[in-house]
Amino acid sequence: MIKDLWYKNAVIYSLDVGSFMDSNGDGMGDFEGLSRRLDYLHGLGITCIWLAPFQKSPRRDHGYDISDHYMVDPRFGTLGDFVDFTHEAKQRGIRVMMDLVANHTSDQHPWFQEARRNPESRFRDFYVWSDTRPETHDEGMVFPGVQETTWTRDPVAGQYYFHRFYEFMPDLNIENPAVMAEIRKIMGFYLELGVSGFRMDAVPFLIETQGAKGRHRPQYAMLREWREFLQWRRGDAIVLAEANVEPRQNVQYFGDDGDRLQMMFNFWVNQRLFLALATGDTRPLAKALEQTRERPANAQWAQFLRNHDELDLGRLTDEQRQAVFAAMGPEPSMQLYGRGIRRRLAPMLHGDRRRLELAYSLLFTLPGTPVLRYGDELGMGDDLSLPERDCARTAMQWSTEPQGGFTRAARPVVPVISGGPYGYEEINAADQRRDPGSLLNWTERIIRMRKEVPELGWGDFKVLDTGNPGVLALRHDWRNNTVVTVHNLLDEPAEIQLRVGGERGRDLVNLLTTDHSQANGRGVHRIIMEPYGYHWYRAGGLGYLLERSSQ
Ligand code: NOJ
Repeated sequence: MIKDLWYKNAVIYSLDVGSFMDSNGDGMGDFEGLSRRLDYLHGLGITCIWLAPFQKSPRRDHGYDISDHYMVDPRFGTLGDFVDFTHEAKQRGIRVMMDLVANHTSDQHPWFQEARRNPESRFRDFYVWSDTRPETHDEGMVFPGVQETTWTRDPVAGQYYFHRFYEFMPDLNIENPAVMAEIRKIMGFYLELGVSGFRMDAVPFLIETQGAKGRHRPQYAMLREWREFLQWRRGDAIVLAEANVEPRQNVQYFGDDGDRLQMMFNFWVNQRLFLALATGDTRPLAKALEQTRERPANAQWAQFLRNHDELDLGRLTDEQRQAVFAAMGPEPSMQLYGRGIRRRLAPMLHGDRRRLELAYSLLFTLPGTPVLRYGDELGMGDDLSLPERDCARTAMQWSTEPQGGFTRAARPVVPVISGGPYGYEEINAADQRRDPGSLLNWTERIIRMRKEVPELGWGDFKVLDTGNPGVLALRHDWRNNTVVTVHNLLDEPAEIQLRVGGERGRDLVNLLTTDHSQANGRGVHRIIMEPYGYHWYRAGGLGYLLERSSQ
């Protein structure tokens, strides 16, 4: 396998331009502000930024309702500012990925406006229509409790249109070759402007076509077409798919021979990671890792803790979901859509620094590529008075200046959290930069170490027996090097016995502290784990401390 696959050892940072940094004082973040903060991100050590949608949009769904794919939302700047940003990122060796929202548009998009007005227009067939209300109209809503139907009558068109999400986001008709051509054109446009790939929104819904009676069928072959187009235009560009699916479907997304999408978010592991953090039992997590092990060699998992949506626990059993709710989001106001928790990571873990480090250490050592959420490196909180998912999309907290240094505006458009344990007065980048023990500086160090341990991104893993369900040990192998990571999810110390195997496995040197472990005569390590402790070891002793695979 060629070593050029940059996404195998990347550290991805996700952010929304609007809530990151405001340079012109209008109360909303913009590209110029983001460009000014690139040194901060570079210092943190991330290697790739994933931008939430920034195109022109009424922003009724945080920009996922696009009304012009070829224009930057004027509140964020111009296309010129965007290209300045991609250029500045490139200067620092940081890649840029962006959301590609192709399942639907805003109802304000000229395509939809033209389609509804004129049945003869070529745009009519860009969307999915029905003369009568399909019997499936109350099925498949993505936002239950907020969204009542997937088919809404448009009075102008005199027909019903299909919308998997909110009624102001009509689904595009992917069966129409002209729509496919538009999607390729959008990809091609942004590739020319310097992006390294796309986080493809809502892929399972994007690729489904209409079957009889309004039932939908996935068309996986499309994925290969997109990949080919992308790699023809720019060899190292990738797609990272948002597809919250059952493990047996993964191969359809990656392709048997790795000929479809390069990356997928590992939602399966994500839900069981939170289950493990909530219950202290790592077995369902270990099982999820096994269940998602199989993938083509060039494919990669994106691992994450929290993202910009709710923590979706829909693929756990009722009992498991209730356990996570009880531990991390017991109040109804903390839950959303009957399936998830809408809080940020730090309040979910009660602001406990030990648990935050444990969660992050797990994120950085699970097989795959880690994706961080802006502000989580500071331990930012949420504002539950805001509706739906907005509570965890507040402004980045830069300093103790008014509005957390996010904007000069007296009344920011993007809410700023002030007061209380998570307010900017307590949690902000400026203070944490100057404090060697801060979470920010800890995160910077762990990212540095993650980048020095390519075995985690590239290697094969094995779950090692620890004899204690509260402790997860993984062995990662790549090109004759071995790394072992151990995590204690319990609030109590644990003594474990670990058999790593191999000659080098007798000598484990801790990568994060100065201790190391020698196996006994039977090849068994006796390791004491602190409450919520995490250890990263390289096998082979001190001589291998700075070793990295080079063959
Ligand atoms: C998934 C995105 O993550 C979410 O924020 C959005 O609302 C839907 N797709 C619709 O685009």
